[in-house]
Amino acid sequence: MEPVNVAVIYYSATGTVHALARAAAEGAEKAGANVRLRKVRELAPEAAIESNPAWGQHIRDTTDVVEAALDDLAWADAVLFGTPTRFGTPSGQLKAFIDTTGPLWQQGQLVGKVYSALTASTTAHGGQESTILALSNVFYHWGGIIVPPGYTDPIQYQSGNPYGTSHVSGDGPPGEVALEAVRYQARRVVDTATALKIGRAA
Ligand SMILES: Cc1cc2nc3c(=O)[nH]c(=O)nc-3n(C[C@H](O)[C@H](O)[C@H](O)COP(=O)(O)O)c2cc1C
Repeated sequence: MEPVNVAVIYYSATGTVHALARAAAEGAEKAGANVRLRKVRELAPEAAIESNPAWGQHIRDTTDVVEAALDDLAWADAVLFGTPTRFGTPSGQLKAFIDTTGPLWQQGQLVGKVYSALTASTTAHGGQESTILALSNVFYHWGGIIVPPGYTDPIQYQSGNPYGTSHVSGDGPPGEVALEAVRYQARRVVDTATALKIGRAA
């Protein structure tokens, strides 16, 4: 059987979610999947971007990452979405991409795929779970199969978010615990998508 296809689709202004998304892509690849790492289009005005040197720098550092397209969703058996929290909700940039998926939704092309989400916020109680749950609302509408990490691996007792990998960026960039947690989350996504693929082919 062909390996499952996994798309990691994210938005990151200053690099935190990008680091998590890269680790998710690594984890999915290591678990045997074909992987596409994709950033969604930046929509903020130039003046806003340049008001934060880390934001502009991150854009320049990630010019090699391909922008997400609807085909990435159509191609994927499983999708991991990453976004920083914005007042406890997903970023407008990721939501804008999601809001272009109407045609795929109408054709039933988003149904039955595995979906999972990860996030980052500056503070520990800054809305990580509400951000992931907001993305889950989309997955329900798509008829998706939501695969959270839960407490299904010892790393989850260190990283501590059963909803999806979540990093507190106020503590610095993602360290080995967060990166290992997101690699684990990706592996669980791949394992579930593979089991579904085998089951559906039987
Ligand atoms: C408009 C805006 C709203 C934000 N809202 C929150 C928030 O509600 N809680 C929080 O802890 N951090 C909040 N943040 C901070 C980011 O979520 C945080 O810095 C995140 O780790 C950035 O990820 P990135 O480096 O991938 O862009 C906000 C940032 C911006 C610009």
